[in-house]
Amino acid sequence: MPLKQKIDLKRLPKHIAIIMDGNGRWAKKQGEERIFGHHNGVTSVRETAEAAAEIGVEFLTLYAFSTENWNRPKEEVNALMELLVHTIHHETKTLNKNNIRLHAIGNLQSLPKSCFDELQEAINNTSKNTRMTLVLALSYSSKWEILNAVKEIGNKIKAGELQPEEVNEHTLEKYLCTAGIPDPELMIRTSGEHRISNFLLWQLAYAEFYFTEKLWPDFRKDDLYQAILDYQARERRFGKTSEQIAL
Ligand code: FPP
Repeated sequence: MPLKQKIDLKRLPKHIAIIMDGNGRWAKKQGEERIFGHHNGVTSVRETAEAAAEIGVEFLTLYAFSTENWNRPKEEVNALMELLVHTIHHETKTLNKNNIRLHAIGNLQSLPKSCFDELQEAINNTSKNTRMTLVLALSYSSKWEILNAVKEIGNKIKAGELQPEEVNEHTLEKYLCTAGIPDPELMIRTSGEHRISNFLLWQLAYAEFYFTEKLWPDFRKDDLYQAILDYQARERRFGKTSEQIAL
């Protein structure tokens, strides 16, 4: 039976987050420059977004560029930015055809203007789509995001608009980049690395983690289905006992 048909559509994760890793190693294995891996990673982005939308996942977040990635060699950063601009521009039509809304989280102001403008245009052009939201984490890091939220809450308190004792989980969530987006139930990381690398630290508190040896440019629809099947085979207890869950 095809993997896709084994998935219980009633128990799908609403939100899947992915750390797309291994582009550089994939390219190196074929004696190519790292950017060759990023270019090929775009096919995996397309396949994964299509697969997720087809089965009914509501949110797919992809870690496309971290705050720390700015420290990579200048040529790689520039090439990645160019690739992003090009991909976003060319994929807007496909996003609309598939009824997918584009959204972005991160320090977007730090992106080159061409990238920021292209992104805004694609976000505006797809804003009415309802099937799935594709969230790109760009110039994103979770510690940056949480610090920002804390600073904003501090300002509200200083202005007398909020009392410290009123601050709870929901208050903080309102100031995160992901406000209004449910927390991911499943986080996938490719390339055999077992880390979360400053990605959605708050939001992944109860997520199931799935690690695969596959390098990102090799990741295909069946790999996503396999991760979802693995997720569906797990018991999510949220700190409770198995007996309490069965009730
Ligand atoms: C990690 O592999 C990958 C990235 C830092 C970039 C991901 C970007 C893409 C797949 C291209 C475009 C994406 C979108 C959403 C349009 P790595 O370079 O860290 O690989 P390595 O660990 O093998 O060096």
